[in-house]
Amino acid sequence: MGNERDFVLHSWCVPGDWNAPTVVGGRGARLILEDGREILDMSSLVECSNLGHQHPKLVAALKAQADKLAFVTAAWGAEPRRALAERLLEVSGFAGGRVFFTLGGGDANDNAVRIARQATKRPRGLIITRDRSYHGATYMPMALSGDARTAHQVDAEAWGVRHVPPPYAYRCPWNSRTPEECGRRAAAAVADTIDKERAENVAAVLMEVNAGSNGIVPPDNFWPELRRVTRERGVLLVADEVMSGFGRCGDWFAWQRYGPENRPDLMTLAKGLTGAVAPLGAVVMSAEVYARIEREMFYGGLTYCGHPLSCAAGAAAIDAYRDEKLVERSRRLGASMFAELQKLAARHPVIGDLRGGHGLFAVVELVADRKTKAPIAPWPAQSEAMKALLAAAREAGVSFGSRGNLLILAPPLVIAETELADALGLLDRLLTRFFPASLERAS
Ligand SMILES: Cc1ncc(COP(=O)(O)O)c(C=O)c1O
Repeated sequence: MGNERDFVLHSWCVPGDWNAPTVVGGRGARLILEDGREILDMSSLVECSNLGHQHPKLVAALKAQADKLAFVTAAWGAEPRRALAERLLEVSGFAGGRVFFTLGGGDANDNAVRIARQATKRPRGLIITRDRSYHGATYMPMALSGDARTAHQVDAEAWGVRHVPPPYAYRCPWNSRTPEECGRRAAAAVADTIDKERAENVAAVLMEVNAGSNGIVPPDNFWPELRRVTRERGVLLVADEVMSGFGRCGDWFAWQRYGPENRPDLMTLAKGLTGAVAPLGAVVMSAEVYARIEREMFYGGLTYCGHPLSCAAGAAAIDAYRDEKLVERSRRLGASMFAELQKLAARHPVIGDLRGGHGLFAVVELVADRKTKAPIAPWPAQSEAMKALLAAAREAGVSFGSRGNLLILAPPLVIAETELADALGLLDRLLTRFFPASLERAS
């Protein structure tokens, strides 16, 4: 038996350096490796396994659907697709709207752009997104993303995308003195860009409500301001909830924290939609947006869009979130996780900023110096100490999510309280071990 590296080109890595563990099973928040060791998953893999690994209701739903009907083209009806769309519209506050199913998050964003342009009758309408955002890795989503990893691969302007600075209050692009000021200025930058380009040339503003892989949690006033700015200008607002949806941020969808009056016009989903047991994405649109395209040809869709197996898993996932009260659990455990992280921040000056606290999602930003906020490595590079911390954690049986200077904590919503406490205890010890200098400076 050869090494997987001898046959597969893996994603997001230097192929020749690929050396990841092979996973053979899972249970709850744990993954089982081929050597029998277990890894506690503190990132829900790529912030997608919200229901943990091998959730029995999801596995059963996949099996039952495979026995009944494994595939039918997206153009024909399929019972699990109806069942999932009905449930989605119910939990999302988009009653009367419609769901367009895709294969994942990137093509959900791609189709949200297509729908927004068609609905506004601005077929080449501009899309405004922000720096330090991630919307996927095929070409349109790369153009939408303001991400250091992919920006060089695509000419975003040529794709009709304009980027604005992010509401990153800790390092505010406008040097704001308060998070509120930063949130206000970030929304004003969107308004200025719409005005400069003229609203009639802009189809939509597309943004993550909480940015997963770029680790930005906007100030509370940002989303309501953004909603006001877009509504006043007749520009559609698309929420990318691919990462932040399905309980991750303490509500079914992160925008819901701001109340029904701040609902976006469209929202894109993937990841937690099926608890990641099958590939699926979706664009959820309001009744108003749907009404604007109902009588026109819609030129969009791929062979496997709305695959019955994936939709069956999606419907079972929604039932599991609901029956097991996992959204509420995420809110409760997320608050206690954040309180524990605040205690760590009090002990470890290497922690410059803590973001999140809504649901089981938190970002820990490490700095070389708290006063100057000097990063431990220039974004998006990762310091050797951070790499060593992550490797030691893995060695101790815990996998933390991380990018650059950031630790991103996003465990499955089913994680046991004792597992969460163990992981945070380990993090405390590893911060002491790998960042002792900053402890000395504090004393
Ligand atoms: C916010 C956000 N949008 C879109 C995507 C792309 O989703 P996919 O990898 O399913 O195409 C991701 C994936 O990480 C994401 O975090």
